[in-house]
Amino acid sequence: MDDARYRLEQISFSSPAYQEMIALREKILRTPLGLHFTPNELAHENQDIHLGVFHTVSHQLIACCVLTQINAETIKLRQMAVDQPFQRQHIGSALLRFAEDIALEKGYRLMILHARLHAVAFYEKHGYQAIGEPFLEVTIPHMYMQKKLS
Ligand SMILES: CC(C)(COP(=O)(O)OP(=O)(O)OC[C@H]1O[C@@H](n2cnc3c(N)ncnc32)[C@H](O)[C@@H]1OP(=O)(O)O)[C@@H](O)C(=O)NCCC(=O)NCCS
Repeated sequence: MDDARYRLEQISFSSPAYQEMIALREKILRTPLGLHFTPNELAHENQDIHLGVFHTVSHQLIACCVLTQINAETIKLRQMAVDQPFQRQHIGSALLRFAEDIALEKGYRLMILHARLHAVAFYEKHGYQAIGEPFLEVTIPHMYMQKKLS
Protein backbone atom coordinates (compact mmCIF):
# COMPACT_ATOMS: atom_id res chain seq x y z
CA MET A 1 0.00 0.00 0.00
CA ASP A 2 1.43 3.40 -0.96
CA ASP A 3 0.09 5.14 2.15
CA ALA A 4 2.79 4.84 4.86
CA ARG A 5 0.17 5.17 7.61
CA TYR A 6 -0.98 1.60 6.96
CA ARG A 7 0.59 -1.79 6.28
CA LEU A 8 -0.94 -4.88 4.71
CA GLU A 9 -0.15 -8.27 6.23
CA GLN A 10 -1.14 -11.89 6.25
CA ILE A 11 -2.45 -12.96 9.69
CA SER A 12 -1.76 -16.40 11.19
CA PHE A 13 -4.70 -18.43 12.44
CA SER A 14 -4.83 -18.46 16.27
CA SER A 15 -2.40 -15.52 16.60
CA PRO A 16 -3.35 -12.50 18.74
CA ALA A 17 -3.93 -10.60 15.47
CA TYR A 18 -6.45 -13.27 14.43
CA GLN A 19 -8.36 -12.65 17.68
CA GLU A 20 -8.30 -8.91 16.91
CA MET A 21 -9.63 -9.74 13.46
CA ILE A 22 -12.55 -11.74 14.88
CA ALA A 23 -13.42 -8.75 17.10
CA LEU A 24 -13.37 -6.35 14.11
CA ARG A 25 -15.47 -8.72 11.96
CA GLU A 26 -17.97 -9.14 14.79
CA LYS A 27 -18.19 -5.36 15.32
CA ILE A 28 -18.55 -4.38 11.64
CA LEU A 29 -20.34 -7.37 10.10
CA ARG A 30 -22.32 -9.17 12.83
CA THR A 31 -23.28 -6.91 15.76
CA PRO A 32 -25.19 -4.44 13.51
CA LEU A 33 -27.35 -7.41 12.41
CA GLY A 34 -27.83 -8.67 15.99
CA LEU A 35 -25.72 -11.74 15.15
CA HIS A 36 -22.61 -13.37 16.62
CA PHE A 37 -20.07 -15.88 15.36
CA THR A 38 -20.60 -19.43 16.52
CA PRO A 39 -17.57 -21.61 17.35
CA ASN A 40 -18.67 -23.90 14.52
CA GLU A 41 -18.43 -21.09 11.95
CA LEU A 42 -14.88 -20.28 12.99
CA ALA A 43 -13.71 -23.87 13.41
CA HIS A 44 -12.90 -24.26 9.70
CA GLU A 45 -10.94 -21.03 9.38
CA ASN A 46 -7.57 -22.70 10.00
CA GLN A 47 -7.68 -23.62 6.28
CA ASP A 48 -8.27 -19.99 5.20
CA ILE A 49 -5.98 -17.09 4.31
CA HIS A 50 -6.47 -14.15 6.68
CA LEU A 51 -5.43 -10.64 5.64
CA GLY A 52 -5.30 -7.42 7.60
CA VAL A 53 -4.50 -3.72 7.34
CA PHE A 54 -2.71 -2.34 10.40
CA HIS A 55 -2.19 1.28 11.42
CA THR A 56 1.57 1.84 11.34
CA VAL A 57 1.66 3.99 14.48
CA SER A 58 -0.99 2.44 16.74
CA HIS A 59 -0.56 -1.08 15.27
CA GLN A 60 -4.35 -1.33 15.48
CA LEU A 61 -6.09 -3.62 12.98
CA ILE A 62 -8.32 -1.36 10.86
CA ALA A 63 -9.47 -3.67 8.06
CA CYS A 64 -9.52 -7.34 7.25
CA CYS A 65 -10.79 -10.07 4.93
CA VAL A 66 -10.65 -13.84 4.53
CA LEU A 67 -9.91 -16.00 1.48
CA THR A 68 -11.38 -19.51 1.31
CA GLN A 69 -10.43 -22.03 -1.37
CA ILE A 70 -13.39 -23.34 -3.38
CA ASN A 71 -11.37 -25.47 -5.82
CA ALA A 72 -7.95 -25.39 -7.52
CA GLU A 73 -8.97 -22.44 -9.74
CA THR A 74 -11.41 -20.55 -7.54
CA ILE A 75 -11.12 -18.72 -4.24
CA LYS A 76 -13.81 -16.87 -2.28
CA LEU A 77 -13.38 -13.48 -0.64
CA ARG A 78 -15.29 -13.32 2.66
CA GLN A 79 -15.65 -11.13 5.72
CA MET A 80 -14.42 -7.89 4.13
CA ALA A 81 -14.58 -5.23 6.84
CA VAL A 82 -13.06 -1.78 7.26
CA ASP A 83 -13.43 -0.20 10.71
CA GLN A 84 -15.94 2.62 10.54
CA PRO A 85 -13.66 5.67 11.03
CA PHE A 86 -11.44 4.38 8.20
CA GLN A 87 -14.13 3.64 5.62
CA ARG A 88 -14.17 5.51 2.28
CA GLN A 89 -10.42 6.23 2.47
CA HIS A 90 -9.46 3.61 -0.14
CA ILE A 91 -8.27 1.16 2.51
CA GLY A 92 -10.82 -1.45 1.41
CA SER A 93 -9.58 -1.00 -2.17
CA ALA A 94 -5.96 -1.56 -1.14
CA LEU A 95 -6.94 -4.67 0.85
CA LEU A 96 -8.95 -6.04 -2.08
CA ARG A 97 -5.98 -5.57 -4.46
CA PHE A 98 -3.70 -7.27 -1.90
CA ALA A 99 -6.13 -10.21 -1.65
CA GLU A 100 -6.26 -10.50 -5.46
CA ASP A 101 -2.43 -10.45 -5.71
CA ILE A 102 -2.11 -13.19 -3.08
CA ALA A 103 -4.79 -15.29 -4.78
CA LEU A 104 -3.01 -14.93 -8.15
CA GLU A 105 0.38 -15.78 -6.62
CA LYS A 106 -1.15 -18.97 -5.22
CA GLY A 107 -2.44 -19.92 -8.66
CA TYR A 108 -6.14 -19.05 -8.40
CA ARG A 109 -7.77 -17.63 -11.53
CA LEU A 110 -11.27 -16.70 -10.33
CA MET A 111 -12.30 -14.66 -7.27
CA ILE A 112 -15.91 -15.06 -6.17
CA LEU A 113 -17.83 -13.38 -3.35
CA HIS A 114 -21.25 -12.74 -1.87
CA ALA A 115 -21.64 -8.95 -1.71
CA ARG A 116 -24.06 -7.17 0.57
CA LEU A 117 -26.25 -5.08 -1.75
CA HIS A 118 -24.87 -1.77 -0.48
CA ALA A 119 -21.31 -2.94 -1.30
CA VAL A 120 -22.02 -4.08 -4.89
CA ALA A 121 -20.91 -0.69 -6.29
CA PHE A 122 -17.61 -0.97 -4.39
CA TYR A 123 -16.84 -4.34 -5.98
CA GLU A 124 -18.02 -3.19 -9.43
CA LYS A 125 -15.43 -0.39 -9.24
CA HIS A 126 -12.85 -3.16 -8.93
CA GLY A 127 -14.04 -5.11 -11.97
CA TYR A 128 -16.39 -7.61 -10.27
CA GLN A 129 -19.51 -8.68 -12.13
CA ALA A 130 -22.82 -9.36 -10.38
CA ILE A 131 -24.55 -12.53 -11.60
CA GLY A 132 -28.08 -13.73 -10.89
CA GLU A 133 -30.64 -12.44 -8.40
CA PRO A 134 -30.18 -11.22 -4.82
CA PHE A 135 -30.42 -13.87 -2.10
CA LEU A 136 -30.54 -13.78 1.70
CA GLU A 137 -27.48 -14.50 3.80
CA VAL A 138 -27.02 -13.54 7.48
CA THR A 139 -30.57 -12.11 7.21
CA ILE A 140 -29.77 -9.49 4.50
CA PRO A 141 -29.76 -9.48 0.65
CA HIS A 142 -26.53 -10.37 -1.11
CA MET A 143 -25.41 -10.68 -4.75
CA TYR A 144 -23.10 -13.31 -6.16
CA MET A 145 -20.14 -11.55 -7.84
CA GLN A 146 -16.99 -12.75 -9.55
CA LYS A 147 -13.84 -11.53 -11.27
CA LYS A 148 -11.29 -13.31 -13.45
CA LEU A 149 -7.85 -12.68 -11.98
CA SER A 150 -4.98 -11.79 -14.28
C1 LIG B 1 -17.61 -1.88 1.77
C2 LIG B 1 -16.21 -1.60 2.30
C3 LIG B 1 -15.41 -2.89 2.40
C4 LIG B 1 -15.48 -0.66 1.28
O1 LIG B 1 -14.19 -0.32 1.77
P1 LIG B 1 -13.78 1.22 1.86
O2 LIG B 1 -12.37 1.31 2.31
O3 LIG B 1 -14.80 1.94 2.68
O4 LIG B 1 -13.95 1.65 0.35
P2 LIG B 1 -12.92 2.51 -0.56
O5 LIG B 1 -12.64 3.81 0.10
O6 LIG B 1 -11.75 1.67 -0.92
O7 LIG B 1 -13.87 2.71 -1.83
C5 LIG B 1 -13.46 2.56 -3.17
C6 LIG B 1 -14.52 3.13 -4.04
O8 LIG B 1 -15.75 2.45 -3.82
C7 LIG B 1 -16.75 3.38 -3.36
N1 LIG B 1 -17.52 2.75 -2.30
C8 LIG B 1 -17.07 2.26 -1.15
N2 LIG B 1 -18.09 1.78 -0.41
C9 LIG B 1 -19.19 1.99 -1.14
C10 LIG B 1 -20.55 1.73 -0.93
N3 LIG B 1 -20.98 1.13 0.20
N4 LIG B 1 -21.43 2.08 -1.89
C11 LIG B 1 -21.01 2.69 -3.02
N5 LIG B 1 -19.71 2.97 -3.28
C12 LIG B 1 -18.82 2.63 -2.35
C13 LIG B 1 -15.99 4.56 -2.82
O9 LIG B 1 -16.76 5.73 -2.88
C14 LIG B 1 -14.78 4.60 -3.73
O10 LIG B 1 -15.09 5.25 -4.93
P3 LIG B 1 -14.01 6.21 -5.67
O11 LIG B 1 -12.86 5.31 -6.04
O12 LIG B 1 -14.76 6.73 -6.84
O13 LIG B 1 -13.61 7.22 -4.67
C15 LIG B 1 -16.23 -0.89 3.68
O14 LIG B 1 -16.87 0.35 3.55
C16 LIG B 1 -16.89 -1.70 4.77
O15 LIG B 1 -16.23 -2.48 5.45
N6 LIG B 1 -18.21 -1.50 4.97
C17 LIG B 1 -18.95 -2.17 6.06
C18 LIG B 1 -18.89 -3.69 5.98
C19 LIG B 1 -19.30 -4.22 4.62
O16 LIG B 1 -20.33 -3.88 4.09
N7 LIG B 1 -18.44 -5.09 4.08
C20 LIG B 1 -18.67 -5.69 2.77
C21 LIG B 1 -19.43 -6.94 2.92
S1 LIG B 1 -19.78 -7.66 1.32
